[in-house]
Amino acid sequence: MVEKRVCWGLLSTARINERLIPAIRASERSELLGVASRSKERAQAYAKQWDIPHAYGTYQQMLADPAINVIYLSLPNYLHTEWAVKCAEAGKHVLCEKPLAITTEEVARMAQVAEGNGIIIQEAAMMRFHPQTRYLRKLVANRAIGDIRLIRGVFAFTLENPGDIRLDMNMGGGSLWDLGSYCVSFARTVLQAEPVEVSAYQVCGDSGVDLSFSAQMQFPTGTLVHFFSSFQSFPHIEADFLGTEGRIYADIPWVNHIGASANVQVMRSGNVEGMSTFSDSMEGRTTDTKTYANINAYQCEVDSMVENVLDGTEPVVSLADSWKNVAAIVALHESARTGKPAKPAT
Ligand SMILES: NC(=O)c1ccc[n+]([C@@H]2O[C@H](COP(=O)([O-])OP(=O)(O)OC[C@H]3O[C@@H](n4cnc5c(N)ncnc54)[C@H](OP(=O)(O)O)[C@@H]3O)[C@@H](O)[C@H]2O)c1
Repeated sequence: MVEKRVCWGLLSTARINERLIPAIRASERSELLGVASRSKERAQAYAKQWDIPHAYGTYQQMLADPAINVIYLSLPNYLHTEWAVKCAEAGKHVLCEKPLAITTEEVARMAQVAEGNGIIIQEAAMMRFHPQTRYLRKLVANRAIGDIRLIRGVFAFTLENPGDIRLDMNMGGGSLWDLGSYCVSFARTVLQAEPVEVSAYQVCGDSGVDLSFSAQMQFPTGTLVHFFSSFQSFPHIEADFLGTEGRIYADIPWVNHIGASANVQVMRSGNVEGMSTFSDSMEGRTTDTKTYANINAYQCEVDSMVENVLDGTEPVVSLADSWKNVAAIVALHESARTGKPAKPAT
């Protein structure tokens, strides 16, 4: 019997491909067959650099190649829908970079075409495939720190790349789409709930994109979420959770520094005999730390997509899930623009 394999094609020569290429190569039932670029010369040079057998001088040419069955789509955000739809119509499954799209209508269109063609389109929200995210979700579900009152997060760095797609309003740029989309997805998945109302402030650059974004989201569970995304600051990443019976701190919640360790600290109040005057005693507190060393979440993402395609398992990030993520982000943008709270579409 011929072993079923995933034959991958890279749609673009984006920088993020560098994370996926080793993961595809390390994935047991995968083969990296091709790369497509808007420029034939660029495709050929890239194929040579990365030792990829086929180079296509247009995206369409790769979609016409029956040897490719899964596309890794790493185009600027505003092109995700157009090309995911073309891939699906050409019978190719798609692992599409985050954010999946920039309107809910676009996600609905992708879902319609995916269903009509029996194709998987999945958002490559890498953090969602990281075992740490699953562990945090389990801690919350098991009430490890009681009811969650607050989740706070920061995802920020200094963007020093003039002409970067992230600085172009027409390409779906801005720190909220780029970084905040992870924070929104993170809060939604660990709480297993959807925000009912949001409010936000932003600092915009000359091109109109938000360079810094401060967001608040209210969840029906009584949890409030605050996060800050920015292209204008000292690099900083962290998330913490405050519950009725403890605190959780994650030092690397939404990026994957391959080779680095990420830690989750769970702090709980101790069994103190007799309460202090204002119930604020620090006595008897315990801290447990779980360390994730050497996790490659891109590997987890690729392996998971391969199982979806070859074994028929359910995608980790469904299109319904991505639709809700986009709905929350659109509402956050609306609030920052109008100065009023907004409700995500349902
Ligand atoms: N999961 C993660 O950790 C992660 C990290 C970074 C980025 N991302 C996502 O990955 C995607 C790509 O980000 P990136 O920073 O890697 O992008 P990038 O390096 O700027 O590359 C984008 C690629 O898209 C193609 N392209 C097509 N039309 C274009 C246009 N009008 N302007 C510019 N490029 C165009 C180009 O390839 P050709 O010229 O070869 O056609 C270009 O190399 C984004 O959706 C981003 O959100 C994800």
